[in-house]
Amino acid sequence: MLFIWLCIIFVPCILIPVVVYLRPSPKKSVNGKHVVVIGGSSGIGKSVAIVAAKEGANVTIIARNVEKLNYAQKEIESYKCCKEQIISKISVDICDYESLEQNFSKIETIVGPIFMMVNCAGMAICGEVEKFTLDEIKQLVDINFLGSLYSVKAIVPKFKMRKEGIIVLTGSQVTLMGMYGYSVYSSCKFALRGLAESLYMEVKPYNISVTLALPPDTDTPGFANENKTKPTETKLISDTAGLATPENVAKKLVNDALTGKFFSYVGFESYMVTTLCTGMSPFSTFLDVIMEATVLGLLRIISAFYIISFNKIVKKCHENKTKKIM
Ligand SMILES: NC(=O)c1ccc[n+]([C@@H]2O[C@H](COP(=O)([O-])OP(=O)(O)OC[C@H]3O[C@@H](n4cnc5c(N)ncnc54)[C@H](OP(=O)(O)O)[C@@H]3O)[C@@H](O)[C@H]2O)c1
Ligand SMILES: *[C@@H]1O[C@H](CO)[C@@H](O)[C@H](O)[C@H]1NC(C)=O
Ligand SMILES: *[C@@H]1O[C@H](CO)[C@@H](O)[C@H](O)[C@H]1NC(C)=O
Ligand SMILES: *[C@@H]1O[C@H](CO)[C@@H](O)[C@H](O)[C@H]1NC(C)=O
Ligand SMILES: *[C@@H]1O[C@H](CO)[C@@H](O)[C@H](O)[C@H]1NC(C)=O
Ligand SMILES: *[C@@H]1O[C@H](CO)[C@@H](O)[C@H](O)[C@H]1NC(C)=O
Repeated sequence: MLFIWLCIIFVPCILIPVVVYLRPSPKKSVNGKHVVVIGGSSGIGKSVAIVAAKEGANVTIIARNVEKLNYAQKEIESYKCCKEQIISKISVDICDYESLEQNFSKIETIVGPIFMMVNCAGMAICGEVEKFTLDEIKQLVDINFLGSLYSVKAIVPKFKMRKEGIIVLTGSQVTLMGMYGYSVYSSCKFALRGLAESLYMEVKPYNISVTLALPPDTDTPGFANENKTKPTETKLISDTAGLATPENVAKKLVNDALTGKFFSYVGFESYMVTTLCTGMSPFSTFLDVIMEATVLGLLRIISAFYIISFNKIVKKCHENKTKKIM
């Protein structure tokens, strides 16, 4: 009897949301639209700009260094699919809010209304927290956190006015999990999740979507630079995962953003971490929620083995260091 009552209550509880939230939103297109890529002169951002150009978008790349911008602009031009497409560049520091905002307005009058803004500007310096200078800490907070917040503040009024738009922020695997050597970088990237989740709720009624990309280690100039400051511990832990190509990360990022997915990730490790950390994050279909709920328990147990092995690496390195001192 109890069983039947449970069925009567629970089956509709599951089925109604499944039916209502099952339909994935149709994929949007950037063809003929204006896409702005901040950090589009290098690495993941440049690959995103190329994907957008291939799909027929007018693309504007933003970064500081003029030479790198010129070089990237030429490369992106070669991927255009029609002559009318415009590939533009703007040299501006995203930490300079006024200039960024003015330049957004200026480029809209030249090229057209911005439809999608992808912020890929960011950088990592690794190391134990006490080894950072105050200037380095400020630099990481400015570029990774404040820069993202400024780009959002500058673009949202334009998107809200037009009742359409796509915003992509770029986090990292360490947006969802802490790791040795990333105390400064990771805390800036964690902040982006709070920004993206709150923003998602604020702009949803205005037909604006928000995606938080969580790239794994990706073969870019930025990664080569970060590599130089990695402690042994960080290297040994990161080596357990592979190195993705910026092309694959960019393709997935654009596709996830156009289908309105909140998180964008690549590869099994990232799937595991993202699923484990879904928490109160937005979802696109109820089927996704059921899938996540089904695998969560098992993934938590698998994660324990990863954590044990990471801690072993740190312990070994620590013993090695103390031995050297004696
Ligand atoms: N590569 C990885 O393994 C990896 C993994 C996870 C997450 N990520 C994240 O993915 C994003 C892209 O990484 P990436 O490896 O492709 O980096 P990258 O190759 O170093 O490219 C960074 C881009 O951002 C621009 N930029 C940096 N600071 C800026 C500022 N203040 N204002 C305007 N533009 C700025 C750079 O140009 P200028 O220097 O000329 O300004 C460049 O175009 C970053 O947010 C990074 O944290 C990367
Ligand atoms: C654009 O950015 C540049 C460089 O930061 C700045 O000098 C300029 O005032 C900004 N505004 C416009 C409208 O170009
Ligand atoms: C893209 O560029 C073309 C060529 O100048 C222009 O006709 C079109 O209006 C632009 N569209 C958008 C949305 O920027
Ligand atoms: C929402 O935005 C999409 C493009 O992102 C557009 O095709 C659609 O018409 C918009 N819907 C409403 C109700 O404004
Ligand atoms: C990172 O550094 C290690 C040595 O410390 C090197 O073997 C590896 O090739 C480097 N990777 C990249 C992508 O620069
Ligand atoms: C331990 O220290 C030695 C000597 O400095 C070094 O060659 C080795 O790579 C270290 N091993 C680990 C696991 O850190």
